[in-house]
Order: sequence, then structure tokens, then C-alpha cells
Amino acid sequence: MDKPKVVLGVSGGIAAYKACELLRRLTESGHDVRVVPTASALHFVGAATWSALSGHPVSTEVWDDVHEVPHVRIGQHADLVVVAPATADMLAKAAHGLADDLLTNTLLTARCPVVFAPAMHTEMWEHPATQENVATLRARGAVVIEPAVGRLTGVDTGKGRLPDPGEIFEVCRRVLARGVTEPDLRGRHVVVSAGGTREPLDPVRFLGNRSSGKQGYALARTAAARGARVTLIAANALLPDPAGVDVVQVGTAVELRQAVLAAAADADAVVMAAAVADFRPAVYATGKIKKKDGQEPEPVALVRNPDILAEISGDRVRAGQVIVGFAAETDDVLANGRAKLKRKGCDLLVVNEVGERKTFGSEENEAVVLGADGSETPVPHGPKEALAETVWDLVAERLG
Ligand code: CTP
Repeated sequence: MDKPKVVLGVSGGIAAYKACELLRRLTESGHDVRVVPTASALHFVGAATWSALSGHPVSTEVWDDVHEVPHVRIGQHADLVVVAPATADMLAKAAHGLADDLLTNTLLTARCPVVFAPAMHTEMWEHPATQENVATLRARGAVVIEPAVGRLTGVDTGKGRLPDPGEIFEVCRRVLARGVTEPDLRGRHVVVSAGGTREPLDPVRFLGNRSSGKQGYALARTAAARGARVTLIAANALLPDPAGVDVVQVGTAVELRQAVLAAAADADAVVMAAAVADFRPAVYATGKIKKKDGQEPEPVALVRNPDILAEISGDRVRAGQVIVGFAAETDDVLANGRAKLKRKGCDLLVVNEVGERKTFGSEENEAVVLGADGSETPVPHGPKEALAETVWDLVAERLG
């Protein structure tokens, strides 16, 4: 089978170096990648690097290899064009149909999905001119990833960073597999909790769990791809921020509760995928707990943590808000799931069967999604993204 053909457009920003990692991911996962930098991108990363990593010649102008009509061919034959980083200038050119170099020509001839990953200073991103260009490109069906918040070039911080290359790769993979899908969650705010809380005993020890956060991150990534504004409340997940998602880092169940309640105030849906510790140590020792010669350790007294899912389900802050919980069960999976759904008062409960062989941290999952309306949606064994898509399908149905 022919490898999917990807054009990686690189425009002139310092984040161009991160596009090398995106290129590596694309080629290593079996894509035929043609890199088309702008002339200014070559100030940051040279043609030799792009050529060596892609295995193809690299040119910036339409005048090279004129007999092959590259300005038409490259775009026509592509299955996906991704521009990363996309500067404010590149977005403006693309929105207005300018074609003064090979990349802008390629964008005009491409009939495949196009993904832009903008990176620029916050002021440039927020400028009405850029925002209008982004809106124009989105209205025409392009995927424009929201930039990340964080350290920019120099001492500035703010919105405008290129998202993690691995996360841009995930967006590309989704678009290649599914095309540009209807942004059925556009205009919605969704909150997802992920990871596992850690309840400190002393400054060096905690009670924790094995949740990797991968399912919650897949939910956040998928909701962003479907157009939602996403707040991801992440507890100790150690994963890169999904592209286009606002991430709030927390440690304990009490911190997670605070962050969820704050974000849920204007949310259309809340998905509690985090593994929240049901108990925490009754006392926090401010100094390290030391062993004492000849003495057995003191038992650790625990107290209950608040049940966040039950609280937000019982105390709906917004009419029509859809609340989703997760449950891990080892026996009588469906019966226990039904009972838990009722007890918690949520609208949907994703029930996973766990066991010694079904470990945390895996890339795949299998579940049944139970609805408060009596519905039962089985999700066969597959990637965590597939389960995430089903959850959002069911949420979107309920949001109407
Ligand atoms: N949850 C929560 N607050 C807690 C504990 C759990 O919001 N203090 C949420 C989790 O995020 C998840 C669901 O409730 O969505 C899991 O409920 P839980 O009763 O903890 O179920 P299990 O983990 O399956 O454990 P068990 O039935 O053994 O209590």
C-alpha cells in the first residue's frame, strides 16, 4: 500500500526546531513526508536537516525543478498538509489566498485536509487581524489548533506556544483517519479530570494509585478536536498537554475538587476520569516520619475524601449539564455499575472491568457506558481515543 502523503509546511518562527520532532514522528509511523519550508524558516532550521529527516529534496520557491511543476503537484498529491509552526504572516497569506512561494502555492492547490499549528507572541495571536484570519480558515474547513500557554521566546509567557509535537502528531493522525469532522462540540465548554490523586503523609511520601491519566487525556484531546473549549484538570499525570486544551495541574483530591468546582461553574459537561483517592491520611506530618529502633510503625489513620462526582451530580450548577463518571469493577461489572450510577447520580457511567491482567497505563481500553436513562453502550477493546469518541457521542446526544 502507498504510504499516506503528508506535506509539512514550516514557516519562519523559532518553534521551527520543534517541527523536526513532528517530522520524525510522521516518518517513523509510515508517512511519506515532503517538507516545504518558507525562506525565513530556513533561518531557524536549514534545508539539510529537513532533507535528511524526510528523505526528499527541499525547496522554498516555485522556481526549483520547474519541469516538475512542484507548486501544483505537491499540493494535489497530498493526503494532508500540516503547517507547523504557522506564523501570523502565514495565517494571513493562507486566509487571503496569497501565493508568493512554494508553501503558499501548495496551500492553494491542496484539496486534502489542512492543519495549522500557530505559534507567535500573545499580542500577535490576540490581534483582531489574526483572529479574523483564523476564523476565515476554520470556516473554510481548515483545522487551526489553539496555541498553548507558556514560555515564549525571551522572557515572555502567555498564549502562543507551539503545542507539543507529539500532540500535533495526534491531531494529524486523527484528521488522516477521520477527515475533518463536524465540530459538534463547538461553543461548548467541557471539563475533564484525569490522572490519580496523591494524598501526602509527610513531605516525601504519599498514598497514590496507578492511574496513568491516558484515558482522561484522550478524552480532552478528542473533545478539543470536536471543537470544544476544554479544561483538563490533571492530577499527577506526567503527560504532555494535549493541543488546544487548558490544563490545570493538581495534586490531592481536595485540590482536584476545588479545580473541578471552579471549572464546572460554566461547563456544559464534566467527565470525571480521574482516579480520586477515597481516603487521605488524617494527619499530615510536616517533618519526615522516622522509623524508631525496636518499635513497630504507628498505624496510619485515614479520613474520607469528598466524593466530587456525587457532589457535582447532586448539586447541578447549570441546567442541562451532562455529568459522566468512571468506575473500575472486578466482579458483577454491570450490576455494580448500575448501582454506582444510581448512587452517584451522574448521567453516564463508563464501567471498566479491571483485574490483574487488565493493567493501568495501557494504550487500550474496553468498557460499557451505562446511561441513567437505562441505555447500555458497549465499547469493544480498542484505543482509548475510540472510547473517548463514544463518550462524546453520548454527551453530544444529551446536550441536544
Ligand atoms: N470519584 C470522585 N471523588 C471521589 C472518588 C471517586 O469524584 N472521592 C469519581 C471518580 O472520578 C470516578 C468515580 O467517582 O468517576 C469512581 O467512583 P468510585 O466510587 O471511587 O468507584 P471505584 O473507583 O470503582 O471504587 P469503589 O467502588 O471501590 O469505591
